[in-house]
Amino acid sequence: MWTRRHFLAGTAALAALPLPYPAAADSAPVALVARERSLSLLPGTTTPVWAYRDDWPLVLRTRRDAPFRAVLTNSVTEHTAIHWHGIRLPNAMDGVPYMTQPPVETGESFAYEFAPPDAGTFFFHPHCNTVEQLGRGLAGVLIVEDEAEKNLFLADHVVAIKDWRLKPDGSFDAFSTDKGAARAGTFGSVETVNAKPHAQLEALAHGWVRLRVLNLDVSRIVVLALEGAEGFVIATDGNPLPPVPLKTWTLGPAMRADIAFRMPWQKVRLQNVWGSKPELLAEISFIESALPGIGSMPELAASRVPEPDLTSAQRLTFELTAGHVSPELQAYLKENDIGIDQVCLPQRTFWAINGRSWSGQDHKLKPPPLAELKRGRSYIFELFNGTPHPHPMHLHGHTFRVLRSSKKEIVPHLADTVLVGPKERVEIAFTADNPGEWMMHCHIIEHQETGMMGYVRVA
Ligand code: C2O
Ligand code: CU
Repeated sequence: MWTRRHFLAGTAALAALPLPYPAAADSAPVALVARERSLSLLPGTTTPVWAYRDDWPLVLRTRRDAPFRAVLTNSVTEHTAIHWHGIRLPNAMDGVPYMTQPPVETGESFAYEFAPPDAGTFFFHPHCNTVEQLGRGLAGVLIVEDEAEKNLFLADHVVAIKDWRLKPDGSFDAFSTDKGAARAGTFGSVETVNAKPHAQLEALAHGWVRLRVLNLDVSRIVVLALEGAEGFVIATDGNPLPPVPLKTWTLGPAMRADIAFRMPWQKVRLQNVWGSKPELLAEISFIESALPGIGSMPELAASRVPEPDLTSAQRLTFELTAGHVSPELQAYLKENDIGIDQVCLPQRTFWAINGRSWSGQDHKLKPPPLAELKRGRSYIFELFNGTPHPHPMHLHGHTFRVLRSSKKEIVPHLADTVLVGPKERVEIAFTADNPGEWMMHCHIIEHQETGMMGYVRVA
């Protein structure tokens, strides 16, 4: 029964809620100052995180096709850069130190500028000594909006999952361990969502809700499930797909899923059902409203990712295995007297792609590419995981279609990162339309930094 009280509560709440799509940002560059800031992650303690701004998670919004400008200023104690994960941008803006730009040393700045061609949920992070820099908190969310999606959803919330390696006093613990790096990754001791034990969100009853769920952790895999409402996956790694009823959806590190549901007159919970007992990620409370409970789900603007031509596509295989430091690299290190404990230099090697390990926290010593791709040509990459651990494999500069798996039914979808399980063979396809050298690596950062990293060249 609708009452006047409900109606008033509804309108008042509407007025009070921040509109999910604010007016277009002016064209002044966004200032991102990487420095130490304090954040309370454990009750009664503060942690000296590294962050680009005081708010964590930092959420930036920009418009599709509009020039996006950001100036990174480095005020931390080692060099850094920003990689705009999942954005199809020019190679020089990809933020990979030594490979696409010089490292941004302490005290220096670097201006990024690009016009994102795809609308959706993206993020950004450093690409050097990442296990530590991202581990300390250097990351941000970049939401690219499409004009046509304006005010489609009455609630539009970020759900950013990230764990932290903390000691009981709130200070950081060692970011990497050999035991973790050689297995499933070193896990955080404090699990957070939007820097809290879980996110507490609100939405108008009967309104459509969009949750932008991002796995920003360096190691942890989560399996999403929704309780209290019928949910749909409407985008993967930022890219729209025909709504898929959400039973469970797995996100490895770096992966994102946008989830839509109509807010009921009850609480809704987003859970992680990876382990034996579900963990609460976000609780969404309803605000009474006079909205009618009818109408179909809002539709996202269409993707512009070019469809690969599967009939002419060339097939390449990439085997993910355990690895060792190559004798060449060892000789090079010895010859050049490069210590193994220097920041951003090769250290340990546990993993390989096609028998080749490229380890190190950065990309200073560049091996030959894993593959040379012809610009404009379609490719099918067959990723085979010969190890007992899952690997979320990420390709820079391109968005691919996940076609099939040897182990499970795949809902075809677009992605920039795909989770390949133990002994699984996954096929992805894309058009190599973006010239340059593009990293391809596991996004369990310790795996990346201990060998499961390479690049392809598109020319
Ligand atoms: Cu999000 Cu090469 O990484
Ligand atoms: Cu891996």
